Amino acid sequence: MIYTDPLFLGVTPTGARTYLADKLVSLEKPFFNACAGRFSVVEVAIKAGLPPENIYASDLGLFSSIIGFLADPAKKMDDLGIRILDAVLEPKGITDELDFAAHVMLILKLNQMKQTNLRGFYLREELLSSWSRCRQTMREQLETLVQNIAGIHHEIADIWDVVPRVSQEDVTFYASVPH
Ligand SMILES: C[S@@+](CC[C@H](N)C(=O)[O-])C[C@H]1O[C@@H](n2cnc3c(N)ncnc32)[C@H](O)[C@@H]1O
Repeated sequence: MIYTDPLFLGVTPTGARTYLADKLVSLEKPFFNACAGRFSVVEVAIKAGLPPENIYASDLGLFSSIIGFLADPAKKMDDLGIRILDAVLEPKGITDELDFAAHVMLILKLNQMKQTNLRGFYLREELLSSWSRCRQTMREQLETLVQNIAGIHHEIADIWDVVPRVSQEDVTFYASVPH
């Protein structure tokens, strides 16, 4: 069975997430999370008791935009204007936006796989040949995450635009920037 690296690398470690969540809940301010990534901090903050409507996430990447647009009640996946131009990857058997989101996530995964060595080649082949099963698994993971963070605000924004906007506001701010 296909086993690949996680789709998203660079998550804030568990201990730091728990520490952050406690602080965020006790400070009771609107929480701005730039570079939201896979929303691991948002997820743990909500679990700790921070209301989702008090959370303002942002990121520039397509991966995060898909999750954020599914979780933000004011956004629609359609607004992302995603088009799949490769006929081989044309979505089939899509029943709703979660299926489509999972399909796009898998394409991102496929494109992360190295095309310059045999391991990458075989992993790509295996993913392509088990696409429906992998898409279903991806859909289930995505659905759980989106349910956990449903109700947040999300926008596509550069951290360098968010920082000046909120720096004079009475809010909490956290970003785990790319390294
Ligand atoms: C290390 S990850 C964030 C991890 C996340 N905080 C977590 O703990 O799950 C970095 C994220 O920063 C985003 N990013 C990179 N440059 C950015 C920028 N200039 N403005 C906003 N987001 C950016 C990437 O798309 C990626 O999702």
